[in-house]
Amino acid sequence: MVTLRALALDDAPALTRIYSGASIRHTTGKPLTLDQAHDKIRNALARAAETPRAQWSWGILHGSDLIGLISLRRRTPSMGTISYILREDSWGNGYATQAANHVVSAAFTTAGLNRLEAMHHPDNPASGRVLVKAGFTHVGTADRHTDDGTVLRCPEVSGQGPNRVVLSRK
Ligand SMILES: CC(C)(COP(=O)(O)OP(=O)(O)OC[C@H]1O[C@@H](n2cnc3c(N)ncnc32)[C@H](O)[C@@H]1OP(=O)(O)O)[C@@H](O)C(=O)NCCC(=O)NCCS
Repeated sequence: MVTLRALALDDAPALTRIYSGASIRHTTGKPLTLDQAHDKIRNALARAAETPRAQWSWGILHGSDLIGLISLRRRTPSMGTISYILREDSWGNGYATQAANHVVSAAFTTAGLNRLEAMHHPDNPASGRVLVKAGFTHVGTADRHTDDGTVLRCPEVSGQGPNRVVLSRK
């Protein structure tokens, strides 16, 4: 079972271990330095203090071990996007799905959203599978923009080719 909690500055070394190896193959493409990890956490804490709140970032914990990061971003008053990354040695245990289910609940309650979207790289079917298990439905592919002009960006995915598989959940 996994639990979610807010990030703290001393999570930076654990974050560098999450953003490494196979976990960055379809996402950032680059390992995270300790300085970048600190910046990422500071940014998450700053975004958490904003009103109205547009971003929620949680650490994913297995016991006391920080194994991943999952984020929810408000893109319009009623629509948000989710993204996640887990440390490679924790894959295949259903942890990303459990974390996504927690965040879907928070999105439709605490955040007051009524629609969620998420994207994954076409060569990353495991991420699509996580979304389907969390109740998302495949709606197509996108080059970062949907038909209504909304920019859909999985922040963990960058510079890996134009197309993204888009999934939606209501
Ligand atoms: C994608 C990721 C989050 C999955 O984490 P996880 O904890 O292993 O996910 P889960 O165990 O909850 O579910 C994984 C599912 O994908 C399936 N899967 C794994 N590899 C697969 C593959 N190559 N093809 C198809 N399905 C695959 C698993 O079988 C499982 O489905 P099942 O329960 O029906 O068997 C993890 O691999 C990761 O962090 N990747 C790098 C970051 C990333 O891609 N983030 C998403 C982009 S925003």
